[in-house]
Amino acid sequence: MSSQIDHLLTETRRFAPSAEFAAQANAHADLYEAAAQDREAFWAEQARALHWHTPFTKNLDWSNPPFATWFEDGELNVAYNCLDRHVEAGLGDRVALLWEGEPGDERRVTYAELTDEVKRLANVLTDLGVEAGDRVAIYLPMIPEAVASMLAVARIGAIHSVVFGGFSADSLRSRIDDAGAKLVITSDGGYRKGKASPLKPAVDQALADRGHGPQETVEHVLVVKRTDTEVSWQDGRDLWWHDLVPAASADHVAQPFPAENPLFILYTSGTTGKPKGILHTSGGYLTQAAFTNKVVHDLHAETDVYWCTADIGWITGHTYVTYGPLANGATQVIYEGTPDTPHPGRWWEIVAKYGVTILYTAPTAIRSFMKLGRSIPEQHDLSSLRLLGSVGEPINPEAWMWYRHVIGGDTAPIVDTWWQTETGAIMVSALPGVTETKPGSAQVPLPGISVDVVDEKGEVVGNGNGGLLVLTEPWPSMLRGIWGDPERFKETYWDKFADLGYYFAGDGARLDEDGDVWFLGRVDDVMNVSGHRLSTTEIESALVGNEAVAEAAVVGASDETTGQAVVAFCVIKESYMKANPLEGLVDTLRAWVGEQIGPIARPRDVYIVTELPKTRSGKIMRRLLRDVAEGREVGDTTTLADTMVMSTIKGQVTKK
Ligand code: WT7
Repeated sequence: MSSQIDHLLTETRRFAPSAEFAAQANAHADLYEAAAQDREAFWAEQARALHWHTPFTKNLDWSNPPFATWFEDGELNVAYNCLDRHVEAGLGDRVALLWEGEPGDERRVTYAELTDEVKRLANVLTDLGVEAGDRVAIYLPMIPEAVASMLAVARIGAIHSVVFGGFSADSLRSRIDDAGAKLVITSDGGYRKGKASPLKPAVDQALADRGHGPQETVEHVLVVKRTDTEVSWQDGRDLWWHDLVPAASADHVAQPFPAENPLFILYTSGTTGKPKGILHTSGGYLTQAAFTNKVVHDLHAETDVYWCTADIGWITGHTYVTYGPLANGATQVIYEGTPDTPHPGRWWEIVAKYGVTILYTAPTAIRSFMKLGRSIPEQHDLSSLRLLGSVGEPINPEAWMWYRHVIGGDTAPIVDTWWQTETGAIMVSALPGVTETKPGSAQVPLPGISVDVVDEKGEVVGNGNGGLLVLTEPWPSMLRGIWGDPERFKETYWDKFADLGYYFAGDGARLDEDGDVWFLGRVDDVMNVSGHRLSTTEIESALVGNEAVAEAAVVGASDETTGQAVVAFCVIKESYMKANPLEGLVDTLRAWVGEQIGPIARPRDVYIVTELPKTRSGKIMRRLLRDVAEGREVGDTTTLADTMVMSTIKGQVTKK
């Protein structure tokens, strides 16, 4: 990592905001001053941009750390804020969603239409017995119904748990069980890579054979018809969206709910095998979602065409597709499919077609476009773009410069935004029109956000040094807990710096001489593949779940396109080897992980080895395996129980 740091610190390019951009920007330098003067009052002022059925009188309550409440005595309805209030303000005809299906079909959904659809669905959900506090799982492709489903659940005070459509039946099942979902909303399928990709079978499988799971909680499955493919049907349980929603009443009055009413659970990988159900609540979350979308993306709802390319299955899709932009009354593009279907210029074609002005995407996407070459984006008119954002992993200066030059025409400011599922909204980023940007650095905490870089003891490292990133003060959109597991919540984020009351983010970071933050990747056993979080332990346990595997160790090796790639080292059972040829096993194991967790978790490489490097206490030394996976000289092996094991492993890996 140190060579990477040295490389980054030689980066000296700087880009000052243009006078033209600054003149129209939503952000101003005085936001920092206002927040520094009174942080809580600053956030309360941002919260007042929302509609409160009952105005709040309290700001932050941090009397029982790490359990925070914000605006606790206020009441609001999240969906009302994203829909009805815009319609009531006369903006019903404004397009909310410019939806583009992968096959090229399109739908324009206005605020009035989306409000109508959400009201009908809210009535359907209520008729199906869903009440405030109940959990609803959403397993859908990127279609307008996905956004409508989230908002309808929120509207009735229930809690959604969106499960990314790329996750397997097993992953879906464990998330349904952990949350105790009462209803699942899915579709027959969605379009991906040029063909209809089924979803309903995974739901059927997740709900089948429930004998040994926890008690059955799912009463109904509501199914959107998207691909018109044949699905199996369980009468009484399964219901078609098109039978129920259009027939339902569009009269529905949004009820107020307390600011701390749970809004959603979103599962994310941690350092153990079991995903964590990150819990977010309503008032503080929506406040920070809307505020950051406005100042960081510089959203001008009347004129901008905004496009965040994230799937709603991730936090980026929650905060910057559904909640932030709709709370702000934005017009946004939603694209169902993959970037290279039916041709590698599809995204740029969409930018040109809709006149996208703000683009928010991930470094992995930028790097893969970079690899394909600039001639592809150059075939499209990208001159509408005026702001570019990056999220999900560190963006290397080369990709940053390419993004600026080829996509942004050397004028659009780039915001590199650091945050997490747990933080709910952007925490560290330049403010466009205010901050002079530096390629590769996420730069500065937002107004109202306090971060530091500390050593293992919690001591501030100071400019020019590296350490661990901590958040030193609570923030409105912070997670309120891990669903059903308050102990794990404390242990994962708060115990490390318990005396100081800091939130431990799990990221390494360095402060440069100006005090700007450079993120250096995770310091725990969490990998970041294409901006998605994967747990080494979760993949290891999937591998040892295969009949052939005795032991497995997984590492994230650096990868040119995906940031990190999953590399697995497996020791095969003697008994398996006696009875089976090893031929084809590597492919079988890769596919196995894909089936167990989802295609994103499929290892790039699987190496069959006879031993794993372990310390005398039996801990696997993944650091050494990472050296092998990245083709480096193997580091210090003196703490290994058997110091010879690394040369054996190296031999077995390079033989391939
Ligand atoms: C982890 C959070 C935030 C939405 C997408 C990912 C890494 C995220 C950046 C960035 C460097 C970043 C961190 C973080 N990360 N954004 N701009 N620069 N690293 O959400 O799945 O919860 O992952 O992604 O390591 O801890 P997530």
